[in-house]
Amino acid sequence: MSEKNPAFPKAWYPLALSSDLKRGKILRQVAFGVPLALYRSQQGRVGVMTATCIHMGADLTRGAVSGERLQCPMHSWEFNANGTCEHIPATSEIPQRARQIALCAKEQHGIIFGFLGGEPNAPLPDFPAEAFRQTSRITVMDFDTPYQVLASNSYDSQHFSTVHHRPLIGAPRVYTNSPHHYGLHFRASVGGAGYNDRFLRAVGVREVELVADCYGGNIVVATSDRTATYIMFAVLPVTQTSSRIFVLNAITKTRMQKIPALFRPAWMELTHRLTLAFLHHDIKIVSGLQFKFGILLPEADAGFMGWMRYWNSLPTATLFDSVSQAESTLMNSHAHD
Ligand code: FES
Ligand SMILES: [Fe+2]
Repeated sequence: MSEKNPAFPKAWYPLALSSDLKRGKILRQVAFGVPLALYRSQQGRVGVMTATCIHMGADLTRGAVSGERLQCPMHSWEFNANGTCEHIPATSEIPQRARQIALCAKEQHGIIFGFLGGEPNAPLPDFPAEAFRQTSRITVMDFDTPYQVLASNSYDSQHFSTVHHRPLIGAPRVYTNSPHHYGLHFRASVGGAGYNDRFLRAVGVREVELVADCYGGNIVVATSDRTATYIMFAVLPVTQTSSRIFVLNAITKTRMQKIPALFRPAWMELTHRLTLAFLHHDIKIVSGLQFKFGILLPEADAGFMGWMRYWNSLPTATLFDSVSQAESTLMNSHAHD
């Protein structure tokens, strides 16, 4: 892995909110240390590609959407959503190497995800099938800390007691259902003085059973049986030292069907606020935190160490790995021309 082209696990990464990318618009988002251009075609399809034009390096985010393609502002080359150049005003012969590095893009629950590492090797993580299709609003937060700090937080057993006042009851159970997945199942008592914990205790919830499923090293779906709630944390490494997190909630179908339709939006909002209140404890601590492995305790840090072993076992890629060897040689020679 080079400093310039850092490697990250091959996985689906959240890039932007769907609502921020209207038809015919372009968005710039740095991901994996590289500026990306996201655009929505006139028909509504989302394309994601490196923002630096392969021709002479103009910034594609200053270009325009032309039908289904993204048009460079400099010489008006037009790239489709796969990054392939399909139109050059100055010639009818388009060189084979005229293509941007593009990510496979998908939208789910109002978030645009892109897959790092060429062809997706895993499905886009989602809430479990028993989740009601209506989800909460999405909160997006930026941190000047490596993304592993945020993605591993649910596996740091010690901090549940010291930061969230939810001491674990018994030892957590680790389980896995695929090479992309790492799961932790544990029970914790609700002991905090914050309004979210006081609310939970007031409605009779003194103990919670939690499951935290991590996919691709960056998307965690946490489930609480007592509150019938799901939380999704999807984390993007913006650079190696800064990250962006997308947080949203879902509720089980069984619970939602007991709530009159009129009150469902308010219920989702309350659920989301309780999640944010819980996360508030972490926010002020993880901001600016560096990822350092000092002294780890075999028992008390077992969940975290297990997550790190899992994260290290994931196959990795850089953005530039999605270019075939032949194309890469051509691109390099082109760059040196
Ligand atoms: S720099 Fe983009 S088309 Fe020339
Ligand atoms: Fe936390």
